[in-house]
Amino acid sequence: MTPFPAAAVFPPLRDSLPLTDLQREVLELKRKKRAIILAHNYQCEDIQAVADYVGDSLGLAYRAAETESPTIVFCGVHFMAETAKIVNPGRKVLLPDMDAGCSLADSCPAEKLAAARAADPSLYVVAYINCSAAVKALSDVICTSGNASRIVSRVPADRPILFVPDQNLGRWVSARTGRAMRLWPGNCYAHVQFTPGALLRAKAAHPGAPVVAHPECTEAVRDMADMVCSTELMVGWCKDQRADTIIVTTEAGMIHRLRREVPGKTFVAAPTDRCSCNECKFMKMNTLHKVRDCLLNGAPEITLPEEIRSRAEIPLRRMLEWSR
Ligand code: 13P
Ligand code: SF4
Repeated sequence: MTPFPAAAVFPPLRDSLPLTDLQREVLELKRKKRAIILAHNYQCEDIQAVADYVGDSLGLAYRAAETESPTIVFCGVHFMAETAKIVNPGRKVLLPDMDAGCSLADSCPAEKLAAARAADPSLYVVAYINCSAAVKALSDVICTSGNASRIVSRVPADRPILFVPDQNLGRWVSARTGRAMRLWPGNCYAHVQFTPGALLRAKAAHPGAPVVAHPECTEAVRDMADMVCSTELMVGWCKDQRADTIIVTTEAGMIHRLRREVPGKTFVAAPTDRCSCNECKFMKMNTLHKVRDCLLNGAPEITLPEEIRSRAEIPLRRMLEWSR
């Protein structure tokens, strides 16, 4: 018997599930408070089902910048809710669980980045959106996995780039753009758990199934994928595949969105060496009960010192402009 877990298999959805009482309560509260619910693709299925918009970090940043609702309930992790606050100083931004952090954001403390900048003032800092507002405030431009190559290729050619905080995404972008970059030594604790061995076993169990992977995976895993892209681009790519089964190498919440928007296909959650379904513990801290409670209580709310917010807005707006 193999010591490794088999990949979790998600067959096509037959019918959409009826709303639960709690979901109906959340929708009613949302209407009363004139709130908008923005949810990342990695959120639980019951949260995705009540959201006004479900998407990747780039789509969520645009939606946050465009909304006119007085209250944004951000179902994602802390840096994402902060991003919504950076472009919405006058609106209330709620995060259902304030402890929903991100290992990648934590790997780049603002003081360390400030020291790196001070040591070499010629650096042009490109910050992956998975970082704190304080790190954004020290950066020249922000990027997401959906636009990173486009953003990096617009950086003035005479400036040395420091890419923070994800070395895996940075290496991928560097190879695609041909632009040498200094890479911050950070990574996503969840995506680096995918291994070539685990992916090989999933491929052997599902012969012919194409593999899509997130760029936060290691290079060895990315090299085995048919497509490497952001979570949003995965939706379109999966729709275009002729194969009826696809192996998805990212956080397993992505599969809820894929099952809803790419009907008729079976999705296989790429396993790790230890689990059959790789979930980000931070993303999963938000629950539908916490969404209901934050709508009821108007808390927990994201607040930012204005000095940091206004400085962070400059590279963030630059990204929104460069990636239009
Ligand atoms: P996307 O921008 O591709 O949705 O990725 C966000 C993220 O946190 C990946 O781990
Ligand atoms: Fe951060 Fe990784 Fe979780 Fe994304 S999946 S929020 S990068 S820890």
